[in-house]
Amino acid sequence: MSIQPGSDGHKDMFCRQFIATHETWDPHTLPGPDLTPAELERLRGVPFWQEVFHTERRAGAIVAAFTPTIDDPLVREATALQGVEETRHALLIRVMIDRYGIDATEQPLETLPANIETAFIDFGYGECLDAFLGFGAFKTARESEFLPASMFDIFDRLMHEETRHIVFFINYMAWRERQRGRGAAPFRAMTSAWFYGRAMQRLLGMVRRGQDQNDGQNFAVTQANMFLEGFSFRRFVEDCYRENARRMSVFDPDLLQPRLLPAIADKAAFGLRMWERARPNLKRASLKNAA
Ligand SMILES: [Fe+2]
Ligand SMILES: [Fe+2]
Repeated sequence: MSIQPGSDGHKDMFCRQFIATHETWDPHTLPGPDLTPAELERLRGVPFWQEVFHTERRAGAIVAAFTPTIDDPLVREATALQGVEETRHALLIRVMIDRYGIDATEQPLETLPANIETAFIDFGYGECLDAFLGFGAFKTARESEFLPASMFDIFDRLMHEETRHIVFFINYMAWRERQRGRGAAPFRAMTSAWFYGRAMQRLLGMVRRGQDQNDGQNFAVTQANMFLEGFSFRRFVEDCYRENARRMSVFDPDLLQPRLLPAIADKAAFGLRMWERARPNLKRASLKNAA
């Protein structure tokens, strides 16, 4: 990176690039692919519509509430556009719900925390975690041909905007920390590890709640099997890593990118590959010893 993270030049660059790459589109006018009855059933059976719809609405509300509190006009302008995009994501999900008769309803949003900046930061790290895992899950779903490719193209638009958001957020955090005299890399690493920990806790809580709610409900075993047939955890981790690299490759290399999760995934994938290679030998050795 040739620009000092957190400097005014850095701020100008990451905000202006975010503003310049904002696209204008309307969820109502996107083509809605026709689905076969089987595809329609699979689409309706996906167990996380409710959660995704709520998360996007909440995202729009957090960003919209945080935006007017930002002093810097350029950062405020860019963040306002993120709010527009989050609100549009919720609208896209709403259009899908109506068009395909999906069972999900608008639930009241929780009261936003008093410290809206902390809420925005928690939300930002949550997005980094969700997007990274989502990259791998999206690839698995696409390859399983769970739904027609034209449907994935619609969601790809959303994934691309989420990728823009996390790049913007990571750069925003570097700038913000520098303003507070904590711009050095070790400080930034500590801050992100702390917030990732919180994001992980929230994600695990959500998975647990989802399991309780979906117990015996509509995500039929056959549908789950479409995703999970031949599922390999090692391959999923590798997919997250590779998809992250692919999606990040379109951004200006001078921008900061999320580093912690790809680094963990890379090490985990290496460990899992070693384990898979060593396992047959270990098995043979233990059988020999037992004989
Ligand atoms: Fe979103
Ligand atoms: Fe987002």
